[in-house]
Order: sequence, then structure tokens, then C-alpha cells
Amino acid sequence: MKQSLESKTISPLKELLVEELRDLLHAEGQLVKALPKMAKAAHHPKLKDAFTNHLSQTESHVERLKKVFELLGEKAQPKPCKAMMGLVEEGKETIEEGAEKENFTADLSLIVAAQKVEHYEISGYTSVRNLAHQLGEAAVVTLLEQTLNEERTADTMLGQLSMPLMQNEPGEAGKESRSFRTKAQTA
Ligand SMILES: [Fe+2]
Repeated sequence: MKQSLESKTISPLKELLVEELRDLLHAEGQLVKALPKMAKAAHHPKLKDAFTNHLSQTESHVERLKKVFELLGEKAQPKPCKAMMGLVEEGKETIEEGAEKENFTADLSLIVAAQKVEHYEISGYTSVRNLAHQLGEAAVVTLLEQTLNEERTADTMLGQLSMPLMQNEPGEAGKESRSFRTKAQTA
């Protein structure tokens, strides 16, 4: 077991919890910057709305994390989250490549990128919620569960939004309004 220099002992579990919370704080901070770009790139109004709504939720996730640090008596200091940096980088590529695609394919690509982000967050929040539960930090668990539920709902909504878009595939005419397409059909 790692021993601190002073007699003050910090539970290794709490140390891990704080470390993971710092990772999430950095991840959420990156999303606050990335989501407006995703919303701007989205074509379908419902997808635009979904990204815009999730932006305000993400801002509240940052605030909630700060409250969690306060409850734990720890500094809300972000730790660079390389995984989210990679996902955001991929998101940027998706936006750039989307310019060459039909609207519905571009939107589907954005949903794929966004769901990868949601799944990362769901995994991260599940872990910190479990650690906090193990440590008997009930108030922290409540806050983390609120965010976890919002991430799950966002993921479900993105999945639902992808359904009609997938039906835009050429040859499946009539399932979704063609007015959504703006580029000439090449197939
Ligand atoms: Fe979040």
C-alpha cells in the first residue's frame, strides 16, 4: 500500500475516486467546448437541439463535479483526460468529413461520434459512483447518479434519432422525408 510522507492516511479507494473525478472534470470541460461545434455541424433540427440541450447539461455536470470535490474536501483540479481528447479529435474529423457527405450520413456520423463520448462518460460515472458507494459517500453517490442518468438518457436519445436517419438509405424511399437531402443522390 502506498504510504504518504505524513501520518495522514488517505484511503487508496478515495485516492482512486478523486483521480477518476479529475479525469471526468477534464473530459466534461472539453465537451463544453466541443458540443457547440457538433450542434453547428448537425443538419437535422432535432439533432441540433439534442446537442444544444446536452451542452447545458454538460455545464451542469461540471458544476456537479465541483460540488462532489467540495463534499470530499478535495480540490477540483482537472487531470488531462487523453481518452476524451482522442474522442474530441475524432469528432473534429467527423465534422470535417461530414462536409463531403449527404446530410443524413453526416448526421449519422455525428451521432456515432457522440455515442462513443456518451459511452465513455457512462463508464466513467458508473465507476466513480461505485467507488463513492463503497466509501459510504451517500451525497456524492446521489450527485453522480444524476449525471449518470442524464448521460444514459442522452445516449438513448441519440440512438432514437439515428433510426429515421438510417431509413434515408437510397432504395428505402418513403420512410423519411426526402426534403432532408440537399445533395444529388448518386446511388
Ligand atoms: Fe456529461
